[in-house]
Amino acid sequence: MKTIFSGIQPTGSVTLGNYIGAMKQFVDLQHDYNCYFCIVDQHAITVPQDRLELRKNIKSLAALYLAIGIDPEKATIFIQSEVPAHAQAGWMMQCVSYIGELERMTQFKDKSAGREAVSSGLLTYPPLMAADILLYKTDLVPVGEDQKQHIELTRDLAERFNKKYNDIFTIPEIRTPEIGARIMSLQEPTKKMSKSDSNKKSFITLLDDPKQIEKKIKSAVTDSEGIVKYDKENKPGISNLLSIYSIFTGKSIEELEKQYEGKGYGEFKSDLAEVVINEIVPIQEKYYQLIDSPELDEILDRGAEKANREANKMLKKMMNAMGLGRKK
Ligand code: AQP
Repeated sequence: MKTIFSGIQPTGSVTLGNYIGAMKQFVDLQHDYNCYFCIVDQHAITVPQDRLELRKNIKSLAALYLAIGIDPEKATIFIQSEVPAHAQAGWMMQCVSYIGELERMTQFKDKSAGREAVSSGLLTYPPLMAADILLYKTDLVPVGEDQKQHIELTRDLAERFNKKYNDIFTIPEIRTPEIGARIMSLQEPTKKMSKSDSNKKSFITLLDDPKQIEKKIKSAVTDSEGIVKYDKENKPGISNLLSIYSIFTGKSIEELEKQYEGKGYGEFKSDLAEVVINEIVPIQEKYYQLIDSPELDEILDRGAEKANREANKMLKKMMNAMGLGRKK
């Protein structure tokens, strides 16, 4: 069986962007792959976090992984910081990375822009991400489009390491969904939806209540034309909403355009709110059953145990390849 690795940062409540771009794929893929789904808390601290919020978000993300339908008997769910090999291998991958290539990463440029103090962790985020992926001999990484550049760098670093030290890493492939690889902000539809956006109206989270969802969709920025038509360039707002509608109903964009021909944005948005609520409410019901259950901790304990076992095997190979420590 081939292996999948993917992670989500516990930097806030999971958005529709994270769900559609990444997590929804995980549910389908778990049946055919050996899967590792990680809560990448060490990536989260590359920007300031509130200690208590971070802890809450870690547990919340674990419960959401399960609530969307990930089966812990099939997939390994674990917390990055509970597997020390990630940080150790991350350091080694930093030592094969060049500052120039890290400074060129779009995420680094976006997240450091306008900040007075930028952590060096923000710059070295991609080699840690490369370590996350490479430790598990990952074949496929299901992610949203924004992570494409980081996966390409992971491939470059793996090839560089294989050539320079020893041919130990599998070169991973990226997988993005056909529709929804980049869900846009509801308030600025030319910018991607992000869970850490300071404008809470710009994103819908999997834990928003139905009233909030309806309000956010109704106040989503569109245009003054009043025609429900997909045109990413000229109508980014309505195109984004059409993508979300299409993903959750399985109807094609053309079908939806026909369905709303001659109808205004008001009716379209009301129906979309209902569609999103219908998708999210069952997830929330499962989430609230799980969030305080001992089962959640047991699953994370088992996940950490398995991930430690697997990651340590590759870590040992990396150490031997680089000549670290004593040969074991
Ligand atoms: N808007 C999006 N559309 C589609 N996919 C998305 N992803 C993120 N935003 C969108 C995908 O979600 C997965 C987890 O992302 P992450 O938490 O590791 O970091 P991120 O990509 O930086 O996501 P956010 O929501 O924007 O987090 P913050 O605000 O903390 O930076 C990835 O597969 C990502 O592609």
